[in-house]
Amino acid sequence: MRVFVAGGTGHSGSYIIPELLATGHEVTALARSDTAAAALSALGTKVRLGDLQDLDGLKEAAADADGVIHVAHRQDLLLSGGMDAVAAAEVPIMLAYGEALAGTGKPLVAAGSIGSPGNLGRPATEDDPALAVGNEHSGTLRARNVVETAVVGLAERGVRASVVRLANIAYSTTDGSGFLVQLIALAKEKGFVGYPGDGTNLWNAVHVRDSASLFRLALEKGPAGRYWHAVGDGGIPLRAIAEAIGSRLGLPVVSVPVDELVLPGYFGFLANIVTQTYPASNLITRRTLGWEPIQPSLLADLDNGHYFSAG
Ligand SMILES: NC(=O)c1ccc[n+]([C@@H]2O[C@H](COP(=O)([O-])OP(=O)(O)OC[C@H]3O[C@@H](n4cnc5c(N)ncnc54)[C@H](OP(=O)(O)O)[C@@H]3O)[C@@H](O)[C@H]2O)c1
Repeated sequence: MRVFVAGGTGHSGSYIIPELLATGHEVTALARSDTAAAALSALGTKVRLGDLQDLDGLKEAAADADGVIHVAHRQDLLLSGGMDAVAAAEVPIMLAYGEALAGTGKPLVAAGSIGSPGNLGRPATEDDPALAVGNEHSGTLRARNVVETAVVGLAERGVRASVVRLANIAYSTTDGSGFLVQLIALAKEKGFVGYPGDGTNLWNAVHVRDSASLFRLALEKGPAGRYWHAVGDGGIPLRAIAEAIGSRLGLPVVSVPVDELVLPGYFGFLANIVTQTYPASNLITRRTLGWEPIQPSLLADLDNGHYFSAG
């Protein structure tokens, strides 16, 4: 396929592009700077200069392609407008792709979040829809659910649209700013590795090389209107992650009381998510698309040390 990729220089995108090229696809990638254009050309893609704010340009790029993968986001809006602004900017982009692809049956695969179905008291599955968003969810991760709903809704307009829900922790040797990087930085700063309460709440993780193969499979053969779970490890106690970090850094691993002052005192802006539990299944994704995560597990990857090489 001739695939248009937005976000090809990002953490996920920089693994998706080699995956697509290695499996015989041709890629045109969006670049908003000369640096991005050079990085993308070096990977072997054609480059389309442009910005996420140019909806007509995105429409044209989608219309010219056999399919679209979207893993870009307006992270620059986070400081001024929070998650609401990032999500609000993404919906018109999805609708623009939708206009270009309506009635064609061509695929659009966009990134979503594993937490979007909320806390169900059991592992979330691919059949659990993203929860609705109201004013009361302003400023929370849930605000981003409008993007998933918009993408899946395009199935009714003849787009083979689907959402790859990325695990909370997307890890790799090139992870520069993800959750692990932040936990490690906090531990170094505080002199101990904190975990909330008893640390039994569950997080999930995926190696971005595995999530890249899932984006490709969804593009190639994913039915319309579906959610896929890019989850390798479906439920890792946060305490186990803290212990793995502590053992590598040689720092004590300490429970941080779940208290409205103490918790933010250690975790800062992460305080409102570290107590959450996000167990998730990947069974439907594996059965439907034949996806198998094959990269080292999160704890094995932490043990191999590359996250700690900066000293
Ligand atoms: N665990 C996770 O990481 C996780 C979990 C849930 C959901 N997600 C979602 O997955 C998606 C991909 O995440 P990621 O970590 O791979 O992202 P990332 O590393 O932050 O990369 C973002 C990409 O968006 C591009 N971009 C940003 N603003 C742009 C603009 N105005 N015009 C054109 N391109 C622009 C960046 O290009 P430049 O190189 O030019 O900056 C970069 O390629 C995001 O939507 C994110 O919300 C991630």
